Amino acid sequence: MTALELFVAAPPGLEDEVAREAREAGFAGVGTTNGGVTLTGGWPDVWRANLELRCASRVLVRIGTFRVVHLAQLDKLSRKLPWAEFLRPDVPVKVDAVCRRSKLYHAGAVAQRIGTAIHEELAAPVSNDASVRVFVRVEDNICTVSVDTSGELLHKRGFKEAVAKAPLRETLAALFLRSCGYRSSEPVLDPMCGSGTFIVEAAEMAAGLKPGRARQFAFEQLAGFDPKSWKAMKMAPDTARLPFRFYGSDRDNGAIRASMANAKRAGIAEYVTFSKTDIGDIAPPDGPPGLVIVNPPYGARIGNLKALYGVYHTLGQSLRDRFSGWRVGLITSEDKLARATRLPFGRPGRPVDHGGIKIRLYQTKLLS
Ligand SMILES: C[S@@+](CC[C@H](N)C(=O)[O-])C[C@H]1O[C@@H](n2cnc3c(N)ncnc32)[C@H](O)[C@@H]1O
Repeated sequence: MTALELFVAAPPGLEDEVAREAREAGFAGVGTTNGGVTLTGGWPDVWRANLELRCASRVLVRIGTFRVVHLAQLDKLSRKLPWAEFLRPDVPVKVDAVCRRSKLYHAGAVAQRIGTAIHEELAAPVSNDASVRVFVRVEDNICTVSVDTSGELLHKRGFKEAVAKAPLRETLAALFLRSCGYRSSEPVLDPMCGSGTFIVEAAEMAAGLKPGRARQFAFEQLAGFDPKSWKAMKMAPDTARLPFRFYGSDRDNGAIRASMANAKRAGIAEYVTFSKTDIGDIAPPDGPPGLVIVNPPYGARIGNLKALYGVYHTLGQSLRDRFSGWRVGLITSEDKLARATRLPFGRPGRPVDHGGIKIRLYQTKLLS
């Protein structure tokens, strides 16, 4: 079988980190492009990318690409695509289209023509409620047709039912952990842990748990799916016994309850400690230093910007006074707030979209 072309969608600005993760996970043909990473492989690689890549937002597989300048040509060329290699005649499909800088500018008409081709060539029903989706992109008169193999976005790991204020997506949390150099071999502490996203991600990584182990994927309804091989791939290895722990604290009782519930559902409760502590009272745990990663409130989302200066100042003071030897990764939308910590940050990372707010990662290491 010829190799499939995979497109792994990534948060814009963090494509390189997703590419590094894909290379470390042993995927072939890894390259970066705007908004994602390209890979090559077979169906098992598609399943594995969905199952194992912590930083990916979704995984698409390309069905075909052709040049197109009018609808009659789209009708003709879309009927020649190898639909049966990707879709099943008994599974409904939804078609989403976008058009940019092209003679074909009516996305609705493009989606409708592709839907008709799928229905007439394969007999698959086309429905707006379908969970299998075909994405069509017409850009500069080049039409790219792909099938979504993920379904729900991949940050939905399946364990986070309890949510505190302004949670980060798990995929972003994993990306920031990796950007801080975290590779599962040190303790991690989040002193404003909210629903525990960083701590659960870090502990899962260290325990060798696959992020997609508890959820379903769209590829389970595509042609080429083999439930037996998938089951074998998904089988979790025994979780390792870790020589260090992961620590979350927050001043809010509800956040601590949410974090504990999420850690339990994720199966890593034995490796984590959550406690109700104000940022002014945090202290490092016994043992070697590791990584403090923290995503304090930002002005635009929760709280009031002016009141937050004091919070950031106290955070910085606690870390400077008591966390010598630890690395710090701080995520915020406001440069002024990062500076209010008086921590010696280097240049921040590229801005990343978080629910419409641009956030950046600031990093430093506190002298021992
Ligand atoms: C943006 S949220 C963190 C979200 C978290 N990263 C997640 O993914 O769920 C900021 C958290 O800081 C906590 N917080 C605010 N002021 C604090 C303080 N003085 N001491 C400790 N925690 C505080 C809030 O209760 C909130 O849970």
